[in-house]
Amino acid sequence: MSAAITIAGVHKRFGNLRALDGVEFNVERGEFFGLLGPNGAGKSTLINVIAGLTRASEGAVAVLGHDVVSDYRSSRMKLGVVPQELVFDPFFTVREVLRIQAGYFGLGAECYPWLEELMSELQLANKADANMRTLSGGMKRRVLIAQALVHKPEVVVLDEPTAGVDVELRQSLWVFIRKLHEQGHTIVLTTHYLEEAESLCDRIAILNHGKVIALDTKQGMLARGIGRRMRVCITTAEPISALPPRLTEKLRRQQANVIELELDRDSDSVIDLLDEVRSTGVAVTDLHTEEADLEDVFVELVRQGRK
Ligand SMILES: Nc1ncnc2c1ncn2[C@@H]1O[C@H](COP(=O)(O)OP(=O)(O)OP(=O)(O)O)[C@@H](O)[C@H]1O
Ligand SMILES: [Mg+2]
Repeated sequence: MSAAITIAGVHKRFGNLRALDGVEFNVERGEFFGLLGPNGAGKSTLINVIAGLTRASEGAVAVLGHDVVSDYRSSRMKLGVVPQELVFDPFFTVREVLRIQAGYFGLGAECYPWLEELMSELQLANKADANMRTLSGGMKRRVLIAQALVHKPEVVVLDEPTAGVDVELRQSLWVFIRKLHEQGHTIVLTTHYLEEAESLCDRIAILNHGKVIALDTKQGMLARGIGRRMRVCITTAEPISALPPRLTEKLRRQQANVIELELDRDSDSVIDLLDEVRSTGVAVTDLHTEEADLEDVFVELVRQGRK
């Protein structure tokens, strides 16, 4: 059985820029797959290639076995893409936007009950007759998501669906996307909120400068950080105004009287660093260590790539 998405040796050049530089991996059916990477890494370019909106300079992509170029119509039917950019015709209402989109897939009135259900699931029902231009950014995002789902695609690709969305809406979107996944949809997600990827995704690829620099299960990815790096949070009786240089080097975050340090297990000693804190004359009231999270691993991998 073919994978949900097959990406084989994909290159994309814009002039001299290599936006995608030999990308190769599969997304399996039923996976919740995270595609992460810093700004400009090539995530949206890859998604545009998958969607058949951009032609790869080299290589091939297939959705459920359908080549996105030679078998565009079939691949497009299987795929729903939520684009990063909010682009709409401002004069249509939400319901009209969804019906027009359904029309592109050859769907007519028979799908209207599903469109009503989608609007209700995404809490858009009371905006069904509102013109797109009157909606807030978060509401527009929900319409983008509904639009991607009008034809009930098996594979759903979401390019930063929660960018610029408030906490409450973000959480309700995650409940909705999780539900889609439980119903059997394959989900590919890009996000800059790494805690989201950590809680949702089964497998994660990190893209940097157009190359996949890591691809692993979430557990495998987290295990990369556990080996060497350790985070230590030190609470002091009062804030330290001038940190000694050795602490500044290791500083991850400082907030009021809490300093968070990132240590290398091999070369740093917690005891030595505690002595450094005490040398400022401020008493230590609490200390605890934390394991690396996905953000630590991400930062470290991207940093290594820069060397
Ligand atoms: N149409 C285009 N013409 C020229 N360069 C482009 C074009 N589209 C993208 N690029 C460049 O390709 C690189 C990858 O861009 P892309 O939008 O894929 O990154 P991204 O990983 O989605 O970033 P972000 O996290 O900011 O959304 C960037 O350097 C970008 O400037
Ligand atoms: Mg992007």
